[in-house]
Amino acid sequence: MDLKEMRAKLKKSLSETRYIHSLNVMEEAVKLAVHYNADVEKARIAGLLHDCAKNIGKDEEERLVRKYGIVTDDIQRQSSALMHSIIGMYIARDEYGVDDEEILSAIYWHTTGRPGMTLLEKIIFVADYIEPGRNFDVVKRVREYVYEDLDRCILLCTDSTIMYLIQKGKVIHPYTLDTRNDAVLTLSRKTFL
Ligand SMILES: [Fe+2]
Ligand SMILES: [Fe+2]
Repeated sequence: MDLKEMRAKLKKSLSETRYIHSLNVMEEAVKLAVHYNADVEKARIAGLLHDCAKNIGKDEEERLVRKYGIVTDDIQRQSSALMHSIIGMYIARDEYGVDDEEILSAIYWHTTGRPGMTLLEKIIFVADYIEPGRNFDVVKRVREYVYEDLDRCILLCTDSTIMYLIQKGKVIHPYTLDTRNDAVLTLSRKTFL
C-alpha cells in the first residue's frame, strides 16, 4: 500500500479531528527525522499511522485482542488510551501492509514510551505531543527543546503525563514511569560527558 492509499484508508477509519491530528504528527515526525538524521520515510508512515486504532471501539478492540492473542496487563486492558497503540501495531501490519519492524515498534510504544527507545520511537513519541493541534502549557516548553534534545522533551512529556494522571486519580502504567526514569538517567549521563 502506498502513502496515498494509506491516507485514504486512515481517513475512513478515524474521526476528522483524529485524522487531522495524524497528519500533523506525520509532518512533525518528518521534520524531526530530517533534523536528527532518522529515516524520513519511516517517520512519515509511523507518524501517519500511529493512531490507526484510536477509533475502533471496545467490541473491535476485544475481537482483535482475541484474534491476535495479545497479552496485556490489567492496567493496559482498562485503558483504551494504552490499548490503541498496542492494537495499532497489528492493524498497521495487517491492514496497511507495514512490515517494517522499526515503524511497527514506534507505533506500539507511542503512548507510554519505554526505556532505551530507538530514535524513531522517540521521534513519534515527541511528535505526538507537540503537533500544532496540541496547546497545553507544557507543549510550549517541549517545543523549545525539540530540535536540541529529544531526551529532555521525553522527560517533560512524561512528567506532565504523570502529573495529569495523578490529578485525575488514574493509574500510571509502569512503562510511563520507566520511560521517565530512563530519560532522567540519560540526561544525567549527558551532563557528565
Ligand atoms: Fe495515540
Ligand atoms: Fe496521537
